[in-house]
Amino acid sequence: MKSWIVLSVTLFIIIFLPSTNSLVRIERELGEARVAIRRAIKRRNFTIIASEAQDFIPRGNVYRNAYAFHQSHMEMVKRFKVWTYKEGEPPLFHYGPMISIYGIGGHFMSEIEDISSRFAARNPEDAHAFMLPLSVTHMVKYLYNPLVTYSRDQIMRVTIDYTNLIAQKYSYWNRSNGADHLLVSCHDWAPEISKEDSGREIYKNLIRVLCNANKSEEFDPVKDVSMPEINLLSFKLSSPKPSRNPNNRSILAFFAGGAHGMIRKMLQDQWKGKDEEVLVYEYLPENLNYNNLMGNSKFCLCPSGYEVASPRIVEAINTGCVPVIISDSYQLPFSDVLDWSKFSLNIPPKRIGEIKTILKSVSHEKYLKLHGRVLKVQRHFVLNHPAKPFDVFHMILHSIWLRRLNIRLPLDI
Ligand SMILES: *[C@@H]1O[C@H](CO)[C@@H](O)[C@H](O)[C@H]1NC(C)=O
Ligand SMILES: *[C@@H]1O[C@H](CO)[C@@H](O)[C@H](O)[C@H]1NC(C)=O
Ligand SMILES: *[C@@H]1O[C@H](CO)[C@@H](O)[C@H](O)[C@H]1NC(C)=O
Ligand SMILES: *[C@@H]1O[C@H](CO)[C@@H](O)[C@H](O)[C@H]1NC(C)=O
Repeated sequence: MKSWIVLSVTLFIIIFLPSTNSLVRIERELGEARVAIRRAIKRRNFTIIASEAQDFIPRGNVYRNAYAFHQSHMEMVKRFKVWTYKEGEPPLFHYGPMISIYGIGGHFMSEIEDISSRFAARNPEDAHAFMLPLSVTHMVKYLYNPLVTYSRDQIMRVTIDYTNLIAQKYSYWNRSNGADHLLVSCHDWAPEISKEDSGREIYKNLIRVLCNANKSEEFDPVKDVSMPEINLLSFKLSSPKPSRNPNNRSILAFFAGGAHGMIRKMLQDQWKGKDEEVLVYEYLPENLNYNNLMGNSKFCLCPSGYEVASPRIVEAINTGCVPVIISDSYQLPFSDVLDWSKFSLNIPPKRIGEIKTILKSVSHEKYLKLHGRVLKVQRHFVLNHPAKPFDVFHMILHSIWLRRLNIRLPLDI
């Protein structure tokens, strides 16, 4: 929501003097995109860009503004170019993990660094945004040694050194004070490693693309991007499962997972093994199948664990199960575009005891609507290789694109 608001406040036409300055061209392109999006909002319709026409047209109330989103997505596909700095050696740089619950970060980086990607700038003068190709997950793996010290200083130092090197060597960082630069990581520690702090003011404007989007910490919903956590072991490339008829789901609510963190502990204490309709497990007995249980449930409980994000949200969406978000301060992914209240429920942790009452009070008619809309948003959480329009890669990139549209760089002309 916020970004669309900011967007509509900051949309304006810029008058340009002819110049060969590449920044002028970059800002002009972004200005044209803003105008097209604003026109779509005003006319309540989009304008097809012939080269970018897609079979899929976003419609309906799962979108905050389907026209704006459609136009904006087309403009992004047509124009958006990201430059990845070449400095740094794998595995600490250019090489995120592709599996595990952190894998989405690696997939995003590899997609954007692939020279055949239409979003990869061929040279930095053509770029609207710049990626710092740091792999926080690999830094934790190779630079963190709890046998020696629990301090994360070394990881912080490598991150800062890299950023300083980039800012010394190229003019792009200083030109925007880092506001058109991004860092992508699903790792739990990424928020801390990239946060603005004393001695780290350099990160004040950085677009941080994170899974752990905790609004009570430094996550800033206007500047930063919330990326969905996807468990890439159990859901290889995370494709939706054939959905069971919503009238034929015998379980009211389901959860299985360790008692990580306060919220899950409360959930286990109040519901584990206690109810036939609200099925809460810690470790699932071997004779039960996790995906089948999700596919046979109306509602899937998605409580925050040690961190706010939960891979269960995408698992629920993939199995046609209505996600029930149980979290105090999680900024849900793609909230600029998607209206989560139309396809999920939100139960505050302090009302965990009332889960059954709350879910039972949802009429069957309302449940059918929620279920139908879950199916509608599935495509936005699917990971493809290569990426396809409107899939999860495009949605993450679109969140970055919106944030880039919201800033304007001063033109020294
Ligand atoms: C919206 O735009 C599309 C394509 O640009 C067009 O086919 C359609 O008729 C328009 N709808 C309305 C209601 O104007
Ligand atoms: C960017 O700014 C920093 C700090 O003011 C400075 O040390 C650095 O040389 C600048 N970079 C370039 C490329 O001018
Ligand atoms: C309901 O589910 C059961 C078990 O999977 C299946 O055998 C049955 O055909 C389903 N009924 C409907 C109406 O989908
Ligand atoms: C989110 O941040 C707040 C403030 O630091 C913290 O109290 C809370 O535990 C965090 N939530 C999760 C699930 O980590």
